[in-house]
Amino acid sequence: MAVLLKNISTLLTLQGAAAKAGRRVTEEDLSIQTNASVFLDKDRIVWVGPTKKLPKEYAKKKSVKEYDCKGRTVLPGFVEAHTHLIFEGDRAAEFEMRQRGVSYQEIAAKGGGILSTMKKTRAASLQQLVKSGQKRADQFVAQGVTTLEIKSGYSLNLKDEMKMLEAANKIQGPRTVTTFLGAHALPPEFKTYEDYLDFLATEVLPRVQKKKLAQRVDVFIEKGFFPTQASEVYLRHAQSLGFDVVVHADQLSLSGGSDVAVKLGALSGDHLLQISEKEIKSLANSEVTCVLLPASDLYMKTKYPAARELIDAGARVAVATDFNPGSSPTQDLNFVGLLARIEMKMTLPEVISAYTVGAAHALNLANEVGSIEVGKSADLISIEQDWQTLFYSVGARLEPLVFSRGKKLLGP
Ligand code: NIG
Ligand code: FE
Repeated sequence: MAVLLKNISTLLTLQGAAAKAGRRVTEEDLSIQTNASVFLDKDRIVWVGPTKKLPKEYAKKKSVKEYDCKGRTVLPGFVEAHTHLIFEGDRAAEFEMRQRGVSYQEIAAKGGGILSTMKKTRAASLQQLVKSGQKRADQFVAQGVTTLEIKSGYSLNLKDEMKMLEAANKIQGPRTVTTFLGAHALPPEFKTYEDYLDFLATEVLPRVQKKKLAQRVDVFIEKGFFPTQASEVYLRHAQSLGFDVVVHADQLSLSGGSDVAVKLGALSGDHLLQISEKEIKSLANSEVTCVLLPASDLYMKTKYPAARELIDAGARVAVATDFNPGSSPTQDLNFVGLLARIEMKMTLPEVISAYTVGAAHALNLANEVGSIEVGKSADLISIEQDWQTLFYSVGARLEPLVFSRGKKLLGP
């Protein structure tokens, strides 16, 4: 199907941000056009430019669905690059415990935390996980998300980690990227992290690879969770099997996660709030995308990552929800962007780029998504709001028209 978005009052192509690979983005890099048109043919963007210059072949083409976007803003679909979408059960009672002074690590050490979600997720059927996951994915789409990353990591055994990945692969609508996070916590069946990583490397990863259930492998490197050295060996093994790697890095303590990410050429280091100047420099000089997760930092009452220093040093930054039932029980992109502005001192153009171009790099999809350019995937949203009101008002809702790979996911 072909689609023409015509008379767009304000078009943010993000072409400039994409040309800079998401580094040191300024307002100019939003590459704003006024009174513009975009033509989509099947799953591709085939024409972008001023409405006056729209070639006749596109203006007159039959069987084209036309949208008059007068008074509207069009921008790339949001790329949500870090979610734990598939799980069963909430952890609201633990949240209350944390409010009363019990720490996340204390709860985890007593078999709560990730392990309490594990019990419920293991017990859930594939159908149940697909059903709850789809509902949550739809909630992301309702906010303009066209690409969605989904991690496993709440089953921690072969059978049910595969079940989680299968559920993730059945999610409809947005483009999905699945990540194997078997190395999320130590399951009760194993005594040491090393033994468990060995099991994941030899028994699970080859099966995940064979069934093509995930493109990426992630590890929670942290004191009291996965040790740095053994995680590095495990991730190297994953790379040798052809997986891209990413790291939950330096979230609760400075434990070497971002160093591992840089050393291995990981796609992203995620969290990064405990890093110092040395890690900021090496991240900035690398291709690793820094995925910052301020909603989880708020819930964990830790601190926020040094986004300003990272960006000014030349690092590429993405932001994401980290949606999960424990450390970040929210799917609210608007709130995440708002926290990035208020608490991490990011400018609005930086936040918009982080949620599009930056996040596209984090998912190894920079040639496909993140900006509106000829040849790229037809992933964009049309909203009635001015772009300057994005990530501004608590509780704001966009009600966007949403296209992912040329297919309309939402709107009239
Ligand atoms: O990204 N840091 C580790 N993993 C998650 C938390 C998962 C959970 O608490 O259930 C995170 O914050
Ligand atoms: Fe996470």
